[in-house]
Amino acid sequence: MSEIINLSNKIEKQLPTELVSFMQVAGEVAASQGQNLYLVGGVVRDLLLGQTNLDLDLVVEGSAINLAQQLAQIKLGKITTHPRFNTAKLQWDKWSIDLATARSETYAKPGALPIVKPGSLSNDLSRRDFTINTMAIELIPSRYGELIDRYGSIDDLKQGLIRVLHEKSFIDDATRIWRGLRYEQRLYFQLEPNTLQLLIRDIPMLDTISGDRIRHELELILKEKYPENVLYRAEELSVLHRLHPALKGNGWLSNKFKQARQLSHSNLPPVALYLALLAYPLTNEDSEQLISRLRLSKSLAQTLRNTISIKTNLKSLANPELTPSSVHYLLHGYSPTAITANSLACDFPVARQNINLFLNRLRYVKPALNGDDLKRMGISPGPQIKEILKLLHEARLDGKVTSKQGEEDLIKGWLARNR
Ligand code: CTP
Repeated sequence: MSEIINLSNKIEKQLPTELVSFMQVAGEVAASQGQNLYLVGGVVRDLLLGQTNLDLDLVVEGSAINLAQQLAQIKLGKITTHPRFNTAKLQWDKWSIDLATARSETYAKPGALPIVKPGSLSNDLSRRDFTINTMAIELIPSRYGELIDRYGSIDDLKQGLIRVLHEKSFIDDATRIWRGLRYEQRLYFQLEPNTLQLLIRDIPMLDTISGDRIRHELELILKEKYPENVLYRAEELSVLHRLHPALKGNGWLSNKFKQARQLSHSNLPPVALYLALLAYPLTNEDSEQLISRLRLSKSLAQTLRNTISIKTNLKSLANPELTPSSVHYLLHGYSPTAITANSLACDFPVARQNINLFLNRLRYVKPALNGDDLKRMGISPGPQIKEILKLLHEARLDGKVTSKQGEEDLIKGWLARNR
């Protein structure tokens, strides 16, 4: 028999006191109901790797909703339940914890969502993607902290390997192809050789995955610390091409992603900016294909369309003679993310200068006078007002007026000339 590993010390050291105390109470309540309770998945993996992860996933052999209801009373949390899968979420100001009833899953056909039935912890672990995600920790008091490792996960963690549990894993759910690359790059691990072969074999299965699910995976990648590494690896293995043949996960992209991070200072750049950079090499037609493959939201689709449309107009923006008002005219109305993507990605220094001028200054320039002011100055309501406001705006942009008084003088001169 293998030696029992107890992780209660690690739990205490690495997780906040409130969460530790919650798990202890949860274990006691579960035991008093005759249920078994486990901490499972990514948080166990990260506990062993010494990495911060506060997303607690608990699995109950019994009923997650019953347990969550009791815990919500004791710990005064907000509870949300999903009776269809017998899962529950408990939330407080700072924390949230997911509780799921242990389940077995079968896949009726590749790419479809699985058929779910209640089951044991063993069933629950055996449906998972990679060995490193199949560890569980006992939470009931008599076995509190004991590690359950059914698939040699500890060895794989030590060796830095991403390994599937069975030969059909990627066929059952090809999103695991993207997940595998994400973990490999995030943890600086490697796909275990047989897993790598299966992954390559099953790349065509990616076409069985719905746009929503693929987009979700891509968003998860773009929220990683270094998404470019995942995309680079995806290009190397021809996974990226399966998403769209014109996408490139190359050094250029890595460079642009790094610049996007510098621009965002300590925050992660928005997913939309990364996506716009990823889609930058695409033509209009390519980007329409990507938009429909990923079923992008209206606003993300708009960002991509704007990005490509600005790119196609870069020649006009590269003219060193452009006045600020012409720069404004060429860029206003586009999404700021699409403009930023072009500032990072374009190859023409003058165009980049103009784009940055717009982003840093021109887009904020407004005339001091408004329509009412113009009426007060004697201009009759109608299309004229709009026309004059436009002229004022241009004069402001080009530095021909710099104050409210200057604007009024301009109007007065204009009125004198036109009366
Ligand atoms: N899972 C799976 N196949 C998928 C998605 C998820 O087997 N296509 C399993 C994984 O074993 C994972 C668990 O469901 O541990 C929870 O999924 P998720 O929340 O995405 O993973 P975490 O490990 O919690 O998160 P991460 O590793 O990204 O930090």
